[in-house]
Amino acid sequence: MSLQVIPAVGEVLERVLDDTFPLWNDGLSRENYGKSWAAQQKTPWGATHLDRVALVDGPHVVSSAKRYDLSLRLDGRIRRVLGIGAVFTSQAHRGRGAARELIARLLETAVTEGQEFAMLFSEIPPAFYERLEFVPVPLTEWVIEVDQKRGGAPAMLVRSGDERDLPNIIEMSATRAAGARLALDRSEDFVRYAITKKRLQSGLAPAGMKTTEFLVVEEGHQAVAYLVATAQDGRWMIEEAGDRDPTGARLGAMLQVMLARYPSERLPEIRGWWPQSLVPPQLKVAARTPTQEVLMIRPLRDRMLPLPPLAAAEVVYWHSDYF
Ligand SMILES: CC(C)(COP(=O)(O)OP(=O)(O)OC[C@H]1O[C@@H](n2cnc3c(N)ncnc32)[C@H](O)[C@@H]1OP(=O)(O)O)[C@@H](O)C(=O)NCCC(=O)NCCS
Repeated sequence: MSLQVIPAVGEVLERVLDDTFPLWNDGLSRENYGKSWAAQQKTPWGATHLDRVALVDGPHVVSSAKRYDLSLRLDGRIRRVLGIGAVFTSQAHRGRGAARELIARLLETAVTEGQEFAMLFSEIPPAFYERLEFVPVPLTEWVIEVDQKRGGAPAMLVRSGDERDLPNIIEMSATRAAGARLALDRSEDFVRYAITKKRLQSGLAPAGMKTTEFLVVEEGHQAVAYLVATAQDGRWMIEEAGDRDPTGARLGAMLQVMLARYPSERLPEIRGWWPQSLVPPQLKVAARTPTQEVLMIRPLRDRMLPLPPLAAAEVVYWHSDYF
């Protein structure tokens, strides 16, 4: 066997998309699954921070993965991080160390490119990645209940978010991240990519299956609170949110405004990977569970440097940041 890692483009990309489609289609048709990937790569962030690679043996595509070039704030320092996603080995080649080999080669390249850590989300029991020296980062998913304001929704101007809101949004993100030990360092381009990705997933899905809302509260021509939420099957996922007010009161009121539009017998279940430092007074936590997908991290160069254990309360990681 002579294995090689190559960029997954052209014919190789089509093979990779064919292989991974049944598992990760999220309700899209095969054609739209391809379109969604192409469109993500055309965003300013995607064009320079996201690609797919394949491990090939001659003409055979053995394994593939997505690579993300992430910026992470870890214990007060900004670190470049290799994000690995969608690791996949074609059925015929499983159980022979291909995925392990691909990951090992990606880690080697990351070191030469100056990345200092690698992160991934494990959808399988984490032992496989623990053998590759990754350690879990605790993330919590919340189910939240919103106190329905008596006498109608709060009188507050909530409008659709757009381009001009991005500077305020990254400011809110940075303030929230500054108090955490681990959080993504989110640029305008990154937030634009994250919102575009959600919109693509709803826009390319069958009509009515999934919706994405991006809303802001404005004061003095500035976004002072915002929220990105996706809805599917009567469930909302708060993808990301922020509030200039440290109590989060405007964000809570925003959720009250959104809920006021719903008939009370069909209220959605609301979930989020909510930072523990942001609990608007209008919210009650109904349940708190570890996220199903396990975030894992390992240092690349300084292998002797142990990563001090992190507690869930020290991490700010929105569902939008999931890759
Ligand atoms: C997971 C996957 C990438 C492994 O590829 P592979 O080339 O067979 O992996 P390797 O040969 O390097 O390693 C095999 C190890 O993977 C782990 N593994 C594979 N599938 C697993 C699963 N469903 N649950 C738990 N562990 C699994 C096992 O530890 C296995 O070790 P073993 O053979 O000693 O039991 C492959 O099974 C796959 O493509 N699965 C579908 C996509 C997927 O779930 N990807 C992971 C996303 S986090």
